[in-house]
Amino acid sequence: MSTLTIEERLTFIVTEEETSANEFSCDVNTGLTSYPKSLPFVHFYDHTGSQLFEKICELPEYYLTRAETNILTIYVDEIISQFPKEITLVELGSGSAKKTRILIEAFLQGEGLSCYTPIDISRQMLEESSYELLKTYTDLEITAVAAHYDEGLNQLKSEGDQTKLITWLGSSIGNLDRPEAAKVLTRIQELIGPNDRLLIGIDLRKDKAILEKAYDDEQGVTAEFNLNLLTRINRELGGNFDLDTFHHEARYNEKIGRIEMYLTSSCEQKVFIEELNLDVSFTENEEIHTESSYKYSLEDINELAKTAGFYVEKQYFDPEKHFSINIFAPIT
Ligand code: AVI
Repeated sequence: MSTLTIEERLTFIVTEEETSANEFSCDVNTGLTSYPKSLPFVHFYDHTGSQLFEKICELPEYYLTRAETNILTIYVDEIISQFPKEITLVELGSGSAKKTRILIEAFLQGEGLSCYTPIDISRQMLEESSYELLKTYTDLEITAVAAHYDEGLNQLKSEGDQTKLITWLGSSIGNLDRPEAAKVLTRIQELIGPNDRLLIGIDLRKDKAILEKAYDDEQGVTAEFNLNLLTRINRELGGNFDLDTFHHEARYNEKIGRIEMYLTSSCEQKVFIEELNLDVSFTENEEIHTESSYKYSLEDINELAKTAGFYVEKQYFDPEKHFSINIFAPIT
C-alpha cells in the first residue's frame, strides 16, 4: 500500500479550452442561425447532462454499456496479458470511469499499472471519479486532465517512456462523423509509440428497431438528456425556450449507418436568446439536429483503422455481437 495521501497521488491539469465560457454561446449562435439548425453534441455534458448520461447507461434499452462491460469482464485477463509490466493507462472521455475499473483492478493486481490518466471535458465528473478511484485503489496514482479530446491528446506527448494503453470506451467515437473519427485516430497514431495500443469500444450496425429503442427509451431519460440542451440555453444564455413545445426524436439512418437525434418544434414559434440578442424562428416540425451516433460494420472498423495508420490486432464481441472492443496497433 502506498504511503502517499490521496492529494499526493493526484495531479489535476485544467486546459484553457475547458474554461472558455465563450464556446457554448458561439456554437449556439452558429447552430441556430444555420439551416438546417443544429447544436454540437459536446454541449450535452454539463453536470446535469453528465448525470443523465450515467442514467442512460443503466437503461434496459441502452445495450451499449452492458455489452461493453460484459466484453471487458470476460476478456480482461486476455487483454492485460498482452501488455508488459508497468504501463500507463490513458482514458479518453473517462466520465465516471466505471468500466475502466475492470482494467485498473486487473492491472493493479498484476502490479502492472504505474499511472492512470483520465481525460474528460467535465471537470466536476473528473474530480469526483478521480477521488472515488483513489479512495478505492490505494496504490493508484492519477494525472487527470480536464480538456476536450484534441487538447487532452497533447497530454499523450508528455507521458513518459512507458508503454501506453489508451482506452476510448463507450463508442464515443460514434459521435464523430466518419472523417472526423479518422482524424482523431490519426492524431492518436501520430502521438504514440510502436508498442503502445489503443483499446476502443465501437458499437456495431444492427437492427433498426433495437437501435431506435436504445435512443428513445420508455422512461424518457434520453428525451430529458436531449432537452437539457434547451434548459442550458435558457439558464446560461437567457433563452426563453418553452420545453413543452419541443420533443425528442431518434431515427436510424440505415444508409449512413447512424442514429440521428433531433429536438423538434411542435408548432410555429419564435424563441429569444437574450445574451446573443437573437430571435430564432421555428416552423412547425422544424428540427434541431443535436447528435449523430455512428454504427460500424466490421469492414467499417478495418477501414477506419487503416485510414488512421492502425491495424486491428484483436477484436472482442459480446455474445449477441451487438458491440465490439478492438485493440488497434500502429502500422510501423
Ligand atoms: C456518449 N455517446 C457514445 C452516446 C451514444 O450512444 O451516442 C451518447 C448518447 N446519446 C443518446 N444516448 C446516448
